[in-house]
Amino acid sequence: MKVIKNTLQMQKIALKHLKDGDEIGLVPTMGALHEGHISLIAKSVKNDDITIVSIFVNPTQFGPNEDYLKYPRPSEKDKEICKKNHVDYVFMPLVNDVFPSDYKTFVEVKTLQDILCGAFRPNHFRGVATVVAKLFNISCADRAYFGMKDFQQLKIVEKMAKDLNFRTKIVPCSIARERNGLALSSRNSYLSVDEKKMSMNISRILREAAKDFRCRNFNSVKKDALDKLKKIPGSKIDYAEIVNFDDLSPTDKNTKKAVFTVAIWIGKTRLIDNVVMIKSRRRVRK
Ligand code: PAJ
Repeated sequence: MKVIKNTLQMQKIALKHLKDGDEIGLVPTMGALHEGHISLIAKSVKNDDITIVSIFVNPTQFGPNEDYLKYPRPSEKDKEICKKNHVDYVFMPLVNDVFPSDYKTFVEVKTLQDILCGAFRPNHFRGVATVVAKLFNISCADRAYFGMKDFQQLKIVEKMAKDLNFRTKIVPCSIARERNGLALSSRNSYLSVDEKKMSMNISRILREAAKDFRCRNFNSVKKDALDKLKKIPGSKIDYAEIVNFDDLSPTDKNTKKAVFTVAIWIGKTRLIDNVVMIKSRRRVRK
């Protein structure tokens, strides 16, 4: 496994692999790797000839009062995890290399970037789309792996890749959870033992909502779930919305596949989670 710190060098190496006919997989991350990230890496290692994991805490996706400085950066441990999981290249560029002081270009995915998390984190998805576009160009990736945990991010990246004619194919990956249901996240390390216990309720409530959805309508399922979420001690809800799976648009009675997506503060930690809801066709008795 090689650790590459320079953007031009990474691109040169990737271009050489491309020329040699290798298929390249990219797993973009901000580090503090956990089983969620590892599940993406495993998919790439299985599918692709070459796996590149990028580790870059991207300043352009953090708001002025967010956790950019305190975001965990266990780089030695991350490198070990990558090595153990058969990664070919870890790409760890410096901030000045990716965003030099004269940097001017940003990517926006209109509408999608402004709803849900975007309404609470202005410029967040502009920062994500921009760095992901750059990573696609630097890595020359055939495939890039994104977790459904960050469902809105996944949809924004899919739209960006389509609209800007990237050749990189986006591969969605399911959410890795703790045994108790809590979605794995680098930010879980901020939670105290008690807060962690409270946080487990989120996935349970979402799971129950998805079950209820089979025989009830969106509004009543959402209302019940909201009531339960509000009762989690120490919680503050940014949003809890049921939206269309394909494009995050509002649902209506014809919606067959939706996502119930939530952002909730537990103490000083903002957690996101979601569950896919599928309307099962009623069996017709003969
Ligand atoms: P980060 O939060 O490190 O996540 C990197 C990738 O891992 C994302 O695609 C995310 O959805 C996925 N992931 C995180 N937790 C997961 C879980 N429990 N199960 C499955 N996948 C999970 O998302 C980012 O970094 C950044 O915004 C990035 C795309 C790297 C751009 O800076």
